[in-house]
Amino acid sequence: MPEVRSEGDFSVYQNVQAAPLADQAPVPGSDRAEAHVVFEAIRKVYPGAGGGVHALHEVSFSVRRGQIFGIIGRSGAGKSTLLRSINMLERPSGGRVLVDGIDVGALDEKGLVALRRKIGMIFQHFNLLSAKTVRENVGLPLKVAGVPAAEIRRRVDFLLDMVGLADKADVYPAKLSGGQKQRVGIARALVHDPEILLCDEATSALDPESTHAILDLLRDINDRFGLTVVLITHDMSVIRAICDEVLVLDQGRIVEQGEVWRVFGDSKGEATRALLQPLRRGLPGDLAGRLRPEPPAHGGLAILSLRFTGESHPDGVSLESLLALAPGATLLHGGIDRIQGHAQGDLLLAVPAGALRSAAGARFSPDSLKVLGYVDDNA
Ligand SMILES: Nc1ncnc2c1ncn2[C@@H]1O[C@H](COP(=O)(O)OP(=O)(O)O)[C@@H](O)[C@H]1O
Ligand SMILES: [Mg+2]
Repeated sequence: MPEVRSEGDFSVYQNVQAAPLADQAPVPGSDRAEAHVVFEAIRKVYPGAGGGVHALHEVSFSVRRGQIFGIIGRSGAGKSTLLRSINMLERPSGGRVLVDGIDVGALDEKGLVALRRKIGMIFQHFNLLSAKTVRENVGLPLKVAGVPAAEIRRRVDFLLDMVGLADKADVYPAKLSGGQKQRVGIARALVHDPEILLCDEATSALDPESTHAILDLLRDINDRFGLTVVLITHDMSVIRAICDEVLVLDQGRIVEQGEVWRVFGDSKGEATRALLQPLRRGLPGDLAGRLRPEPPAHGGLAILSLRFTGESHPDGVSLESLLALAPGATLLHGGIDRIQGHAQGDLLLAVPAGALRSAAGARFSPDSLKVLGYVDDNA
């Protein structure tokens, strides 16, 4: 069964009678109004030689109800460990996780089953059973829970329709594309009508087009059902596409956290900048090769880099103001993106050396302006 990469992940669907979660009284002081999932000083040490692997060091943050919350980091940063602590697929070595104010580490087996039904999960490699049809894969958690067949059918039909796979109900996973397999995974994750959806690198095995479609579907589900979505990825473009808030994890520690446009526009940490690098439009190699530190004796062009973080010009960058700053400018490279309603990006301009005005004099200033160097326009 090649689709099942991790047997452990199926423990989400254990066959134990569920007890209502509310049996456990919320932890006092945990009723922070909108907090849905709260991490309090979560530590994780995997046993091993030399003191083991310290996967998480005292990680504390909270996820608000209805948010799409992204956790990004390089491979090995501790993302999966953190995500899997929400439904106790991985038990922390210290600290606690509160879901709806309830300390999930203190739940007994019945409580855990009830919790896991409130939390759907999707995986990079889909974790579908290859010997079962799409309908059977999606309905399996309900069958395991002892739901009557007619009710299973009704629910599965609804979900397959919602993810756009109504015509694939009787097909086996091997006949599906990656994007379609993940749609099955999403339908299965939603069978118990969960309040939280966990996504572990859910688009990392997909091509760009399917990635886009799956992210749209996740956004739609978040809108329609008010689900809280926690997703982990190593790909900043995924964060940019759908997340409201992002947390950057590096070597088991939080590097930074905030609204996506802020972290993109003004990243603090080296780890964040490294993750953002593929999305940045830096100096193209052909220009870099011609760049000189001093202007040529006659004429020449200054190469300017302008950066907009979304803070001072959130509505966009006026072309007139650019020309006032740099008369005769040629736009060489770059662009402005719109992230959460904030215009931000980088522009690379060539300006006749000597024509450049000071930003103050031009009454216009990007968030950062650098003269990268000069090129000889006659060369
Ligand atoms: N079951 C395990 N046993 C030992 N070490 C593990 C185990 N799972 C993860 N690790 C280690 O913990 C660290 C964090 O892993 P993980 O949470 O999977 O990171 P990520 O999802 O960010 O790639 C890594 O160094 C990894 O090798
Ligand atoms: Mg991982």
